Amino acid sequence: MTTDVQDRGGLRYLQGFGNEVSSEALPGALPTGQNSPQQCPYGLYAEQLSGTAFTLPRHSNRRSWLYRIRPSSMHQPFQRIDNGRLVSDFSGSEPSPNQLRWNPLPLPTEPTDFVQGLVTMAGNHDVGIHLYAANRSMQGRVFYDADGELLIVPQQGRLRVATEFGLIDVEPQEVVLIPRGVRFRVELPDGSARGYVCENYGTGLRLPDLGVIGSNGLAHARHFELPVAWYEDVDGDHELVAKFGGNLWRAQMDHSPLDVVAWSGNHVPCKYDLRRFNAIGSITYDHPDPSIFLVLQAPSAVPGLDTLDFVIFPPRTLAMAHTFRPPWFHRNIAAEFMGLIHGVYDAKADGFAPGGASLHNSFTGHGPDAGTFEVASTRNLDEPDYIKDTMAFMFETKEPLVATRHALESPQLQRDYVQCWHGLKKNFDPTRR
Ligand code: FE2
Repeated sequence: MTTDVQDRGGLRYLQGFGNEVSSEALPGALPTGQNSPQQCPYGLYAEQLSGTAFTLPRHSNRRSWLYRIRPSSMHQPFQRIDNGRLVSDFSGSEPSPNQLRWNPLPLPTEPTDFVQGLVTMAGNHDVGIHLYAANRSMQGRVFYDADGELLIVPQQGRLRVATEFGLIDVEPQEVVLIPRGVRFRVELPDGSARGYVCENYGTGLRLPDLGVIGSNGLAHARHFELPVAWYEDVDGDHELVAKFGGNLWRAQMDHSPLDVVAWSGNHVPCKYDLRRFNAIGSITYDHPDPSIFLVLQAPSAVPGLDTLDFVIFPPRTLAMAHTFRPPWFHRNIAAEFMGLIHGVYDAKADGFAPGGASLHNSFTGHGPDAGTFEVASTRNLDEPDYIKDTMAFMFETKEPLVATRHALESPQLQRDYVQCWHGLKKNFDPTRR
């Protein structure tokens, strides 16, 4: 049974992002007045899913109560399975200060579902960064990640993410956030799909404070959409795949684990349409730092220092006077993994294709390529630039990222990437001020 939660109390939007919300796919399935009554409506079992330590302060505490057909413990013992191209231990490899860039991952030719299609590109102890390319829906197979929260960024092909909390339909330029431990299945309505996944080992992603921007701007809490209320009551062979302690494990079940009929809490999957982002920028001269494009952040224990920033470069107007309008050359303490969802990124003339990726590590110099510099340093600035056809993003982390063996040996690695800056001319002339 599918019930749009918008029909049940206007809960379609995740008000406040982190505040308690609730949903039910059958009328009256959600207990009222308490979390764990002696007997739940419809003969459901009550189960708590805690995403954070019990005693965290209220503003960072995440947990949900699930009312389900069977408890989540009803499965056969887990057994290890092959990790495929997933990597979680980055301690044995060295981070590289080289600029790295990859062409898009080709779609698989063998039958490959979302989990099988994951390939780890880079990571550190705060994040794992993966690509996915898949050509079949997960069938009788449900996945959860005990190691981290998953931020899924589709680049090509829609996804239907069937979760314990309901259904989430997404298309490229939308993102899905799956909290740690939540069970889900990925189906491919278009037959194939490709995109990016950031596995966040740190604190849960949240909306940033806005400081002097005020109470509006950037990503708005009301645009984070809840799953549509749904459950399945299906008996028969199912496979539960867990990513736990850096490895994949598998357990047989005799029913679908996506059998939650009602829930209440704030440890909840959601989606966000990046096209709703309210971009703020300079209206006089020069550039703000790219933190102005911050969608979600995972804060560390040090105020202002995040273990993960999810930043986008959406369509926007550049009107800054006497300013080189694309991003200038820079070296940052953070490590920057970029992807392109749609269109063209304004700092690169070519070579950074939709579905491609780049990694610029801590204090590695990068910026506009020679072609972009030539055009942007001489163009007429009387008129604004309307950057219409673009959606790029960045996973930014505070520690250097280690590229995996898969990434460094990939045929998609552009081994001549550094050449894109070698055409920059020496313009210096001490006699010409
Ligand atoms: Fe950068």
